[in-house]
Amino acid sequence: MWWKRLQYERRNFNYYKTAVANLFAVFPPVPDLGKPSPGKCRTCAVVGNSVNLRGSGYGSLIDSHDIVIRMNGGPTTGYEKDVGTKTTHRVLYPESAVDLDNSTHLVVFAFKIQDLEWPTKALTTGFYTTSHRKVKPKINGNKDLVMVVNPAFMKYVHEIWMKRRGKYPSTGFMTLILSLHICDEVHVFGFGADSNGNWSHYFEVLKKKNYRTGPHSGTNEYAILKRLASEQTVTLYKGS
Ligand code: C5P
Repeated sequence: MWWKRLQYERRNFNYYKTAVANLFAVFPPVPDLGKPSPGKCRTCAVVGNSVNLRGSGYGSLIDSHDIVIRMNGGPTTGYEKDVGTKTTHRVLYPESAVDLDNSTHLVVFAFKIQDLEWPTKALTTGFYTTSHRKVKPKINGNKDLVMVVNPAFMKYVHEIWMKRRGKYPSTGFMTLILSLHICDEVHVFGFGADSNGNWSHYFEVLKKKNYRTGPHSGTNEYAILKRLASEQTVTLYKGS
């Protein structure tokens, strides 16, 4: 089964159900997205971590959106001119955890049971575990602003949008598709490989020169993004 190939964890369905029940005991069951209304467009900036943000000068444009969604460790401090300062939502995994401020929503695209257990514990007593990367046991953040996306979402994006290409969709691609569901207008920044085809970041020098796009089908994801942009479903800012 597709799910099982993505996991190191070997746990049963009851364990999963307990993890979900614990999650709903702590976090609001309905995400706070603001009400849709005919007089107000909810505009979103989806900010990936591409090196093409460096020197782009997009900072104030990004900050002008109602919702600004960033991903993993993508920093703002020191990069304000290019990436802005506002972060209403940040997508994290246990393996990419960073501290959040009190007004930022934590968004988790869960696909492992650990991903369901982690937010509750990381924001309270601490989550001590091992994964393919070191996991920061505790993070600062507001536990009333947590959105854990149903694991079925990743499967939906993989099957319907990616037609099963790549091992599983990237964080950025899932964020893009989520934003199509929750925003009235989607503006996309910080997506796109460097000239060598690597997904390098605006905030660091690439260490693995042959990283390409990791387990993700970067070329197909980018082709879909370009198609959405050409249809004017989203606005794509290609950076420098
Ligand atoms: O590398 P990281 O996963 O933190 O980056 C967040 C997302 O930004 C990726 O999942 C990918 O979708 C996007 N990205 C990109 N081009 C890059 C770097 C990242 O499209 N050069």
